[in-house]
Amino acid sequence: MNQPDVKWLSDVSIYQVNRLPAHSDHRYYETKEQAREGGPMKWRHSLNGSWKFHYAANVQSRPQSFYRTDMDCSGWDTIQVPGHIQLQGYGNPQYVNTMYPWDGLSAVRPPEIPEDHNPVGSYVKTFTVPDSMKNKPLFVSFQGVESAFYVWLNGEFIGYSEDSFTPAEFDLSPFVTDGENKLAVEVYQRSTGSWLEDQDFWRFSGIFRDVYLYTMPDGHVADIKVETDLDESLQAASLHVHAEKKADIHLVLEDQDGRVIAEGASPLKVEHPCLWSAESPYLYRLFVEVRSADGSIIEVIPQNVGFRRFEMKNRIMHLNGKRIVFKGVNRHEFNCRSGRVVTREDMIWDIQTMKQNNINAVRTSHYPNQTEWYNLCDEYGLYVIDEMNLETHGSWQKMGKVDTEWTIPGNKPEWQDIVLDRAKSMYERDKNHPSILIWSCGNESHAGEVILQASHYFKEQDSSRLVHYEGVFYDRAYDETSDMESRMYAKPADIEAYLQNDPQKPYISCEYMHAMGNSLGGMYKYTDLEDRYPMYQGGFIWDFIDQSLLKNDRFGKAFLAYGGDFGDRPTDYNFCGNGIVTADRKLSPKMQEVKFLYQNIELLPDQKGVLVKNKQLFEGTDAFELAWSLLKNGLVKQTGIKELDVEPLSERYIAIDFPSAEEPGEYTIHVSVQLKKSTVWADAGHEIAFGEYIYGVKESSQEPSGSVTTIEGDVTIGVHGEHFRVLFSKASGTLVSLQYGGKEMIEAPPYPLFWRAMTDNDKGNQFAFASGGWYTSSLFRKCTSVELASSQNAATIVFRYELPIDQSVQAAVTYTVNTDGSIHVNNEYKGAANLPDMPIHALSFKTAADYSKLDWYAMGPDENYEDRAKGARLCRFQNEAADNVAAYLVPQESGTRTGVRFVKIADEHQNGLEIHYVNEPLTCTISPYTAFELENAAHHYELPPVHYTVVTIAGRQMGVGGDDSWGAPVHEEHRIQSQEDHAFEFTIYPLGKKNKQ
Ligand code: GAL
Ligand code: MG
Repeated sequence: MNQPDVKWLSDVSIYQVNRLPAHSDHRYYETKEQAREGGPMKWRHSLNGSWKFHYAANVQSRPQSFYRTDMDCSGWDTIQVPGHIQLQGYGNPQYVNTMYPWDGLSAVRPPEIPEDHNPVGSYVKTFTVPDSMKNKPLFVSFQGVESAFYVWLNGEFIGYSEDSFTPAEFDLSPFVTDGENKLAVEVYQRSTGSWLEDQDFWRFSGIFRDVYLYTMPDGHVADIKVETDLDESLQAASLHVHAEKKADIHLVLEDQDGRVIAEGASPLKVEHPCLWSAESPYLYRLFVEVRSADGSIIEVIPQNVGFRRFEMKNRIMHLNGKRIVFKGVNRHEFNCRSGRVVTREDMIWDIQTMKQNNINAVRTSHYPNQTEWYNLCDEYGLYVIDEMNLETHGSWQKMGKVDTEWTIPGNKPEWQDIVLDRAKSMYERDKNHPSILIWSCGNESHAGEVILQASHYFKEQDSSRLVHYEGVFYDRAYDETSDMESRMYAKPADIEAYLQNDPQKPYISCEYMHAMGNSLGGMYKYTDLEDRYPMYQGGFIWDFIDQSLLKNDRFGKAFLAYGGDFGDRPTDYNFCGNGIVTADRKLSPKMQEVKFLYQNIELLPDQKGVLVKNKQLFEGTDAFELAWSLLKNGLVKQTGIKELDVEPLSERYIAIDFPSAEEPGEYTIHVSVQLKKSTVWADAGHEIAFGEYIYGVKESSQEPSGSVTTIEGDVTIGVHGEHFRVLFSKASGTLVSLQYGGKEMIEAPPYPLFWRAMTDNDKGNQFAFASGGWYTSSLFRKCTSVELASSQNAATIVFRYELPIDQSVQAAVTYTVNTDGSIHVNNEYKGAANLPDMPIHALSFKTAADYSKLDWYAMGPDENYEDRAKGARLCRFQNEAADNVAAYLVPQESGTRTGVRFVKIADEHQNGLEIHYVNEPLTCTISPYTAFELENAAHHYELPPVHYTVVTIAGRQMGVGGDDSWGAPVHEEHRIQSQEDHAFEFTIYPLGKKNKQ
């Protein structure tokens, strides 16, 4: 078998040749001091950087003998390692979700692979062994190569491996020379492994994780297993270190202050250990000294150790004796420039962002991540579901329907070894990370004997963790594969039905809240379950980061590209973007809701103080303080700080002596729990929890003085007063001009609007199809009557409209112009039966783009909708119209604020207008673009140049939904029924003319 053969690519029984056994990811040093330092390893030498490279579109056209020493590759191009081939100028990245990427291009079935398109990257790196590593055995480690590769050294075949997401290591010793060595690697995009790597992601290939040479001292321990048996009382632990061979090992365990806690041979007894949790990720430092027979030190292995006890008790998952709730997120490794090549900086940004937003758990969807990620999770405190690299989605689900005609791996024994190999490679590498609580047998690969065996394997190896697999949903005969009931995108009602029906396993959503585009509505319906059902143990949002790639448009301007933008077909287009952060690592407005609903401290203020519920399992509130502020009409009147002392899992009412609020106005009490000191993940002052209480002291309204003059022309009705002029047109059927201080405010006149630019969710659930009549009714209407009533104090003009959606529907807008130039606007809608739900009930007009500075008193500061407003607070904030266009991959409805008391719209000289609620707060969207312009654009670059500010004032806009993006409707209570009557009112004032605030 030692001569390489391209047939291995399609031979399911050959997934490695000469690969070394998988082992723990520990590092090793000459001395304890070096081990403590943790710097570069003397015995490792990185081969990252420029490699010589040749690209061939298929197997036939590859340079077959490039690996030979007499083949000169010096004239080849270079490529960066680590990196994807398709992001460095060769071929194209392709985005597909469930279908295999060759669907419709090649008729292959597993384990065959497409012949005509299987890009081959031939890589060459020359190296000389560094002095410190000479005269020792030499190995090479590839941390990640997609999807299969052959290795040669100095013309001799070394080995072969599949599985893109775990390391492959080979022995180079027999062929290495003291001079220059030629390492040749041939990477194929397609292999049998590709059938097991049908994750919903960009399809790339190449050497995309680190490559290094390594050696080791004589007597080196390649694998250790660290076990931290913590007894039930959590008071005594014994620390076992199992070394792969009978090595003489001496253990030294230090605490965080560097004090030696225990020392000696394995096992070490540890009394009253500080425990590890995401709330308090206490890590001990273990030094494993490997000694030779004469007692001298061979090597020292530094290892972080977390003592924790994770177990199923009474059908509930417990960590350190407490019921755990996962406030989780799924994470792909992603960077908009380099794809799945992520740096440590990227990872630190990700983990800090998660911690700052109260996320306590991550699922490594859908493959083992780089080792560094687990180190960070140990250190920062994040619970991990570590998922093996297995997804065969396209083999059993086609266009949403289950069709198991050729499912793999199913019960097919020939797939057993290749699948188990993946389980083993993950387990062996990752087993010593305390952050990993759960092993996952992969994603969306149906169920069967093969995966069941993988589950058994994890259980046999490891009693300190549980096993997860969602796919048993599709075949309950294999239910025992998973220790927990895990579903994806189950609706709150279905989850409740499960929980109420004598469940045998605890419940988690391994995926929920599909955060594609403007989404995440109704998340509170899931988090509400946490307190109601002990066996509901949380969920993992889909997902953390958009997978979109930076690309230049035709004019050289960078944009975030999605599937299809690279000429890639077939593709699933913008389905690659479902993140709560954008691919260029900026928070999306959805994060506001996540942060609030995932908070561990609940704050319920009232006029006398605040009830603080500390839902943390292990930590009191010592690290935090309570900041409060009293606001009047959104402006801060007074602030204060209180000490906090609330035990974990308990509550306490903290009295606060708020200043009295007697003057008329709307008052808000904001309470916020903040970090006292900076931590590794956030600065001092960072808010981790928030609560508010709103109350009002009645204002008496003043009658404006002065008078108005009304001139009814043949076509135009003019209403004139001091410093203002308003014109209505009988021909246009609306208000056509509004001049304050001689400046025209209306560029396109107001008409009723019933349409919002469809969100990804609206499109996915056919709402867009069903409600199209509201689209035409927003663009076209017939004005059926104009009525004028005027006096010295006011002029009132009523416009009545018929709408194309249905003749019996009536819409009317009544404008009352007052002596101070304010215009009261009343919007009425009389419903009719059998109409689709209405996206929005609004009035919309355009002003010039000069008026783009916004000052709000509303729910904010970030975008919110009636089903996604829990994380918003009533406050005063400023932004620009352009800020309200969120960076969702396909332009869609965005930037709306609910609970609007007022919004001021100004130019840079403080000219403009302001809009105030009357009776009921408003829902407003102020953007440079109309709903129709957004609707028309598939990319942001397709939006027109900005000439206007589009002001949309609504009584209501329907929620955005988010249970999933392929059918789930917005929940009933957040929809707008068209058979009912609807009305809302507001007043427009000249800027600054409403009381000063
Ligand atoms: C799930 C899948 C994810 C992703 C998501 C939709 O079914 O596990 O990988 O495809 O749906 O965005
Ligand atoms: Mg899938």
